[in-house]
Amino acid sequence: MPTLKFPDNFIWGASCAAFQSEGAWQADGKSESIWDRFCHIPGNILNNDTGDVALDFYHRYAEDARIMKELGLRVQRISISWPRIFPEGSGRLNQKGLDFYRRVVDALLENGVDPFIMMYHWDLPQCLQEKGGWLNRDTAGYLAELAGTIYEAFPKEVPLWGTILEPQICAYHGYWDGKHAPGMRDFSSALLAGHNLLRAHGMMVDAFRASGTKGEIGITNYLPSHYPLTGCPEDIAAARRWDGCWNRWFLDAVYKGRYPEDMQQWYLNHGIVLPRIHEGDMQLISRPTDFFGLNYYYSYFIGHGQDRWPLEVNSVRPADREYTAMGWPICPDGFYDCVMRCWRDYGKKIIITENGAAFYDELTPDGQVHDAKRIDFYKKHLAALHRAIEDGADVRGYLTWSSFDNFEWALGYDRRFGLTYVDYETQQRYIKDSGRWYAELCRSNALEVD
Ligand code: FCB
Repeated sequence: MPTLKFPDNFIWGASCAAFQSEGAWQADGKSESIWDRFCHIPGNILNNDTGDVALDFYHRYAEDARIMKELGLRVQRISISWPRIFPEGSGRLNQKGLDFYRRVVDALLENGVDPFIMMYHWDLPQCLQEKGGWLNRDTAGYLAELAGTIYEAFPKEVPLWGTILEPQICAYHGYWDGKHAPGMRDFSSALLAGHNLLRAHGMMVDAFRASGTKGEIGITNYLPSHYPLTGCPEDIAAARRWDGCWNRWFLDAVYKGRYPEDMQQWYLNHGIVLPRIHEGDMQLISRPTDFFGLNYYYSYFIGHGQDRWPLEVNSVRPADREYTAMGWPICPDGFYDCVMRCWRDYGKKIIITENGAAFYDELTPDGQVHDAKRIDFYKKHLAALHRAIEDGADVRGYLTWSSFDNFEWALGYDRRFGLTYVDYETQQRYIKDSGRWYAELCRSNALEVD
């Protein structure tokens, strides 16, 4: 059985997010977020699940920090619930909200787990949505105000910082296909929302540098690989377009300071209104960051077709792949390609900020979860990552999604991603086989492959 050794000081960790885990949606002065509002409208979420209680991390963070230690994590990513800190979106600070994150950071540190704080993982205060949400340029400045407050609260305790989590998911599911809050359906609006999210990212980087806060900062993008279905030019062009929409649009803006020409032209030809770029916007968006945050789950197989206006593509699910409970094809080769491509095209050191798989896990009567498929998923993806590192990609760390089962957005609690099983009835936690396996991986810094 070969052993794949990872670089010294490789950062092993896991991620979670405020809305997906905290619950306590009205506790201690928190106001409503767009996700609270969205979940409370029947029909938006599978089984009409909500984030009202989630896994009650708000009250159980101390126990959960101990579990994170047991999982062997060197780093745990959390996110900040904006409406806990600024219930009116900006201006009046809710000290009790900030105190909660103080307790969480302390609990992590006491357990030897470094916090990684993601500033925005999608739970915008509803009151700001009423002022236009991400279509309002001012929203970016309000988020920078939140970031400034958090930097000031944690000047040296947090080694890793994130600005925006997956601007493409936030913009496209929130404003294009309406699957996520705030549930809008207009492509031009999605591009504008994306532009303002990226401006917020740049403003948060500026605020970070100005504050003198210790640590490194970056943005995390959602980056599938995209393969043409055939070698015919139409399919190749379609795959490049789909990649242009999801990946290059955001990556070129952040790392090259421009939106891709070919995509701008395509959109103009399809009657899309491009975001109005004010002077200085692209410089702001492309401020140098410290690392490249990469989230990878699966790959797309794309042909030319009539779906997904205005892109004119057709996404096919290949029959020869295995699938997770999300219906996502398992593509470790796509992970390798994605990492190599990001390294080649953007040349910045990479942290894998999410990778993982949902399966329909079962808890045995004696409290075990034998999730062999998840372990197999991780092994295959980590072997691919190791190959990318051997081939020259500068990858500094890997965070799984997720330390715990949690609220999976439009799919509620139906799909489980965790290394730890959560019984939502009793709020009991059970470390899965994958969690024990991951702890050993973190300890040994080496992957045993079959
Ligand atoms: C990512 C999100 C994360 C989680 C995983 C499965 O796109 O960042 O919150 O839902 O997908």
